[in-house]
Amino acid sequence: MINNENILIINCGSQFTQLIARRLREMKIHSVILNWDVDCAKAASFSPLGIIISGGPDSVNDPDAITIDPAILKLGCPVLGICYGMQLLSKLTGGVVSSGGKPEYGATSINIKGASRLLKGIPESMNVLMSHGDNVSQLPAGFLPTSSTSGGVVASIEDSSRKLYGLQFHPEVAATEHGTEILRNFVFGICGCSGDWDLADWVDGTVAGIRESVGNDRVVCGLSGGVDSSVSAVLVNRAVGENLQCVFVNHGLMRKNEPEQVMSQYKALGLNVKYVDASERFLAELAGVTDPERKRKIIGKLFIDVFEEEAGKIDGAKWLLQGTIYPDVIESGTKKGSAVIKSHHNVGGLPEHMNLKLLEPLRDLFKDEVRALGRIIGMPEEIINRQPFPGPGLAVRCLGEITKQRLDTLREADAIFREELKNAGLYAGIWQSFCVLLPVKSVGVMGDSRTYNEAVVLRAIHSQDAMTAEWVRIDYDVLDRTAKRICNEVKGINRVVMDVTSKPPATIEWE
Ligand code: XMP
Repeated sequence: MINNENILIINCGSQFTQLIARRLREMKIHSVILNWDVDCAKAASFSPLGIIISGGPDSVNDPDAITIDPAILKLGCPVLGICYGMQLLSKLTGGVVSSGGKPEYGATSINIKGASRLLKGIPESMNVLMSHGDNVSQLPAGFLPTSSTSGGVVASIEDSSRKLYGLQFHPEVAATEHGTEILRNFVFGICGCSGDWDLADWVDGTVAGIRESVGNDRVVCGLSGGVDSSVSAVLVNRAVGENLQCVFVNHGLMRKNEPEQVMSQYKALGLNVKYVDASERFLAELAGVTDPERKRKIIGKLFIDVFEEEAGKIDGAKWLLQGTIYPDVIESGTKKGSAVIKSHHNVGGLPEHMNLKLLEPLRDLFKDEVRALGRIIGMPEEIINRQPFPGPGLAVRCLGEITKQRLDTLREADAIFREELKNAGLYAGIWQSFCVLLPVKSVGVMGDSRTYNEAVVLRAIHSQDAMTAEWVRIDYDVLDRTAKRICNEVKGINRVVMDVTSKPPATIEWE
């Protein structure tokens, strides 16, 4: 049971809500995210030292805009409203929020005026991320403006006697300079937190929580070989022991030699794993399909079908464990106000009427946190440092029609790229690196003959959480060696190109 200092985050639908929680975890602060409709009594039951009201897509002036229980503002602990949260705070305490002014999206410079506990130690002028259409045009009684934009919009307010604070910009995103310091000022300086939480507590709390919900039921776990599903399995294994039955489905979309390597790692971890070779079934259902979203849906559905078949063979299996992490959730658009970018196969592909209940212990964590967690629970670096690999595997890297032959071509090229990066000592420092096979033929010349073959793309990116990514500037000699080897050693490829787009505007995977 977690018994730490608590900050409550009231979620009004912002894409950044989990990022606020993550920033707090980095400061060793435990937080609880509650939906905007939570009542005051429930909020009080967490004994929060402070409350943060998130941003959100609504306008507080819309008749059906979401709002919070106003009694929450009178609980006595400090409250910080961010963006929509600040507008809501202002409106609920008698201020006026205007719609129809000039919206501000993106980096904006603000100027700080006067003494402010929230902005203590922050330079007088800095760039922040603004993302709002409305603004607070008349402050509620008792509030002072503490900063404004060059366009004259109030950027932060406070009423220190009532311990109410507002920021029109987002301190939780990296694009806001000194954002972390502002959050630190709030939780440590204003709320009085000491920072008494760490990931080890999270492990204890989560293991206890899983034990309680699962009881004596059996859990089926879909292992993919990746760090997320492996960490989930080791965690749940701690909670329910032998009642966890893992299934490793080879969907025929793995990289070269991967199924064998992954199975031996699981054995070494002492997990109870059944190997299921369903590759022919997957390839049969994918035959002729070229649309990326259809590929994803087919794979997601078949994956669950295979699990359900396997689960049906296990007495008392009631739960399906998945290694879903937060970026999977947000990109599948399951949160109010966020758009679908890609339907990640462990989220969007789930059929509506599943016979198994879902267990997703890592759902709120970012990748680097999952890795840190893996270290805490004693997993080997080999698994922890494994590059993320998408659930639908090579299907989203094999553009156009998926055939065994095209997959094999991609596997060979990909193995060469990986090997060259490893030989150059670059592989471990890269977030993800892989090849993509394009259904585009171009003319080449080999020996004295003309060739007309497909092209391979080299993709390598740096990232912290997969939400944004920067393409990696790889040494030309390494690229040259890789390209030569691929054209010489992989039948069916006569051209190698490099993807030099970051995310955004591209995504990491091509489909
Ligand atoms: P994108 O391509 O959306 O990828 O920028 C973000 C991160 O997620 C991985 N990815 C997936 N992971 N199931 C997964 O488990 C999926 O369907 C999926 N699609 C993309 C991708 O490799 C990158 O790390």
